Amino acid sequence: MRRQAHERGAPAAGSHPAAGAGVVPGSRAARPVLAAAAEAPPLQLRSATVDPQVMESNRVLPRVQDVAVSRSFKILRTRVLHRMAANNWYTLGVTGTSAGEGKTITAINLALALAQDHSTSVFLVDLDLQRPRIGAYLGMSYEYGLTDFLAGHAELDQIIYDIGVKRLAVVPNASPLETSSEQLCSARMADFVNALEAQHPRRIIVFDMPPLMVSDDVLAFAPRVDSFLLVVAQGHTARRTLNNAKEVLSELRFMGVVLNRSTERNDSPYY
Ligand SMILES: Nc1ncnc2c1ncn2[C@@H]1O[C@H](COP(=O)(O)OP(=O)(O)OP(=O)(O)O)[C@@H](O)[C@H]1O
Ligand SMILES: [Mg+2]
Repeated sequence: MRRQAHERGAPAAGSHPAAGAGVVPGSRAARPVLAAAAEAPPLQLRSATVDPQVMESNRVLPRVQDVAVSRSFKILRTRVLHRMAANNWYTLGVTGTSAGEGKTITAINLALALAQDHSTSVFLVDLDLQRPRIGAYLGMSYEYGLTDFLAGHAELDQIIYDIGVKRLAVVPNASPLETSSEQLCSARMADFVNALEAQHPRRIIVFDMPPLMVSDDVLAFAPRVDSFLLVVAQGHTARRTLNNAKEVLSELRFMGVVLNRSTERNDSPYY
């Protein structure tokens, strides 16, 4: 069976696509970073096609024509790279406080911006097991996804895709799972993360995750993640919710906050 991912609904009118995205540094709480697993042979990537029109309508770089947006993601990329290097972090969970704040778009565009850096290779993994969207936002056509691997219906080299972007590999997912937090803690998931972490040279792994306050998925998976980026949407995320989320995140390693849908624009060509 071959799956054809579908485009999602149109974005809200009048909003700026991730304009003003930037990292507000989070806590520097240090926890011992998980040791990388033993080095493994290179993973074989499957080829998958993506649909440029679907990408464009979903505001995925590099189809986004807005210079301010791509500049924002480059700034975000560089800040993320600096903090990851300074802390010896390799894995980044992208989360938020509630649904629809732009976590998935941020995860995709950040992964693409990271892969534009010539010395950075990236795995982009759809880890929102209940609402997987990465394949749909890319208009990706592929056979097996992460859920197939977790269910034992596919092997590792059947779920990691080359979408024609240098230094980027994508692990999509098409089948939502009810028992997501249990699956995130499963032995099969541990095998999956270990295999990605064992690649040499090491790649940055960007996990697109569900919201922090809606399920226990992020907390359940947190021990496997070096740091978290919190996406908040201007005019959407309540201050109290944000404070609660920050309290939870302060117990984890926290990369920072990305402000999405900002109404403030920086149209200067320099940064
Ligand atoms: N800056 C933006 N400007 C306009 N539309 C946006 C922006 N960011 C996201 N959107 C739109 O908002 C919707 C939700 O975005 P996205 O799926 O990235 O959010 P999410 O936080 O991952 O949602 P979920 O909680 O369902 O996983 C999408 O239709 C997306 O195109
Ligand atoms: Mg999402």
